[in-house]
This record gives sequence, C-alpha cells and structure tokens, in this order.
Amino acid sequence: MNPISANSQAVAHVLRCVHCGKVQETADRMFRCTQCSELLEVVYPEWAAAPAEFALRLKEIWRERRGSSLPENASGVWRFRELLPQVERENIVTMSEGNTPLIPLKKAARALRLPHLLAKHQGMNPTGSFKDTGISAAISMAKAEGFSWVCCASTGNTSASVAAYAARAEMKSIVLLPAGQVAAGKLAQALEYGAHVLQLRTDFDGCLKVLHEVVRKFPAYLLNSLNPYRLEGQKTVAFELMEQLDWKVPDHVIVPGGNLANGSALGKGFTELRDLGLIESLPKISIIQAAGANPLVRSMRENGGRELVRVNAETRATAIRIGNPASWRKAVSVLKNTGGACEEVSENEIAQAKAELGTEGIGCEPASAATLAGLKKLVAAGFVKPAETVVLVLTGHMLKDVDYMKQAPGQNLLGPMEADSDSVIKTLEQIYARH
Ligand code: F0G
Repeated sequence: MNPISANSQAVAHVLRCVHCGKVQETADRMFRCTQCSELLEVVYPEWAAAPAEFALRLKEIWRERRGSSLPENASGVWRFRELLPQVERENIVTMSEGNTPLIPLKKAARALRLPHLLAKHQGMNPTGSFKDTGISAAISMAKAEGFSWVCCASTGNTSASVAAYAARAEMKSIVLLPAGQVAAGKLAQALEYGAHVLQLRTDFDGCLKVLHEVVRKFPAYLLNSLNPYRLEGQKTVAFELMEQLDWKVPDHVIVPGGNLANGSALGKGFTELRDLGLIESLPKISIIQAAGANPLVRSMRENGGRELVRVNAETRATAIRIGNPASWRKAVSVLKNTGGACEEVSENEIAQAKAELGTEGIGCEPASAATLAGLKKLVAAGFVKPAETVVLVLTGHMLKDVDYMKQAPGQNLLGPMEADSDSVIKTLEQIYARH
C-alpha cells in the first residue's frame, strides 16, 4: 500500500455567501458575509478545473486509508481530506469520529413495507452524536489559527462535543446552555470534559443571540454551525454513507431538523460528490421537525421558503427545540435541489417511533426518532415508495436523554418486589401468560 501523506491532494478554498454570492477569502469571528451578513459556505474553486482522474482516484485513496492507523486516516472526517479545507497534520484534532454503522432496520421495514430501510447511527460517534464530525473539522481550523479558547451555544450535544474536542486540543471551552432545558447526560459530558458551562435563563435561540455579542468582545472561536467549517466535517457522512452503500445512491435520506445545519451539510456532501462525478444523482433529502419547533415546515408551507417564520419552540425532543434556525437558507436550498420533503411530527409520534426502534435493539435520542416518525408520514403520503432505499440519520445516542425514557409508557419495569424466587416466578408466569 502506498503511504499517503496528509492533504496530498487538498486544494485551496474560499468562502461564499449563501444569499448574495459574494466571495471572500477569510471571515471574521462571526463568519458572516461582509456585504449582507448572511451565512457563508466553503467552496473549492480549483475543483472545477481538476482533471477527471482526480475524482476517480479518490474512491481508491479513501479505501486504502481505511486500513491505516494514522490518526488522520482513522478519522471518518479526515480520511476524506481531499474534499476538506487544507489543515496541517499537526493541527488536526481527531478522535476517530465518523466511522459509524449503517444498520438495516427489520421491524420498521416490515411494518412500512420498505425492504431497503437503513439507519446511519451517528450516535456512535466519540461523544455520542453527529456533532463530532463537524467539531473535529472546525476546531482543527481554530487550532491552525492559534486560538486557545472555543465557544458555543447548545441544546446539549454541541456542548458535549466542543468540550471533549477542546480538551483533546488542550484548549479552553465555554458553552452557553438554556438553563433547565438540556438533557442530563449532555450536561454531564460538558462538565466532565472541563467546559465552563454558563446556564442562561433563556432558550437556545436566546443563548445563540448572546453568544454573538460575546464573541465580538471575547477572543473565543465560535464553534456553532454558523461556522462554515462545521458543515465541512458534517458533510463527510455523505461520503462515508456512499462507501457503505457501495456508491449506490439511496432514494431518500431523512434527517431531523433543529438549527438546520445537518441537513444542509448532507446536501452539500452529496452535491459535491455529484459535481465531481463520483455519483450520478442526488438522494432526496427530507428534514423532519417536531411540530412544536417547526420553523422550516412553516416557512416552506407559508411562503415557499423565501422567508423564515420564527416560532417559540417547545418539544420534549430538547435537541431540536429551536425556533430561529441559523442555517434555514441552506436547508431550503437542499430541499429544493434534492426534491426532499419537510414534515412535522407530534410528541406522541416521536415517542412511538423511538419505542419502536428500541424494540429492534436500536437506541437513539428523541430528536433522532423524529426521522422514523416522519418517514411513516412520507410513506402514507406516497412520497416514499416501497421499492425505494431509505436511510434514516440517527443523530444522537440513547443514553444522552435517559429521563425521556423513564417517562415513556408501557415499559417492562416491575417491582420493587420481595427478593425471593416465588415472587419472581409468579411474576414471570403472569408475563409468560400474556405472550
Ligand atoms: N439531533 C440531535 C441529537 C441534535 O443534537 C441536533 C442539534 C439535531 C438533531 C438537529 O441538527 O441543528 O443541525 O438541524 N443539536 C444542536 C446542539 C443544536 O446544540 O447540540 P441541526
């Protein structure tokens, strides 16, 4: 096997505004367009002129690296570094993120009559959520730029990931959380990894607003998904998924939507593969929101995605309790460019879907289960058809939010009862009779 050095084929990138299209080479700490203040995205102008064999060789290079133990090859992000911003090897902060399983669903597949139904379990990342791929990419940029403090606002998972990766990079982290609205497992992670955790009396949207002002005055690198480098890391799930599917494009990929970066990143990843000629078509990328936190659903329904309809978010799927999503424009483009749907699901539908996944041995967060709940609606509407291949992106690990499960009805938790075999056998006989 040929040894492959870091960034062997990486190319320079620029930042382009997603609204007015202005191109800039660098960004200030707010990562906003200098002309219209909208979000930026990373583009790679040199790809347009890249020889055809550049793209053809990529599949081979990426496959070779899977057998390598070098940290930048073991990473499910940096293994794809030809399609990422150039970062020197010593600045790459990685914990072998990505590399998550693609699991065929059985019961849900039977119930929905979808023989090709798969779950891409991003909860199997180092800190238990899909955030790690994006944080690995963005914090490596922060390191390259010489920052020693990083920060984020979060519904929980970003804070856990930021705290862990900052600790690995020997940086300090600050996280702003909505007080009382973050699942205990996520808060515990941020504390364990040594973040400075500030709980604010507001919601996620309020935390992000405050953080904008803080970043202007405090020299900390912003790791929220306003930072376009976050999406560069997160887009690699599309590359990994295509490898796992032997480069056969699925018909549908379904993600939950909160701040709307994840759907945007996936769309970017697939579009880049298509533009480079590595795949021939795009999957339909659909985004599912909780009915109580549905700004994208409302924007699409009420004005075709031209303007954001902000909402006061409320859902027990706290990860996606967001009413003013930053990446809404990017998400609208992905829906339009891929022909995906945008659907909302109720609290009961989320709970039911989560319980169903549990019965087939697949645990995930409530927000992640919104994908299955949404899929049921898309099947009922005829948008997803029986012969089609569907991938649900499960974004977070079940153990992030155990309080949610403790409140779920219909669980088989019995007792306390007497600690004698008679009591236990009597109970087991009753259970047996019911089956
Ligand atoms: N699923 C989980 C488990 C999440 O933690 C999030 C977002 C989403 C889905 C939605 O992804 O924001 O890219 O649309 N969590 C963020 C956080 C907001 O702070 O951890 P999105």
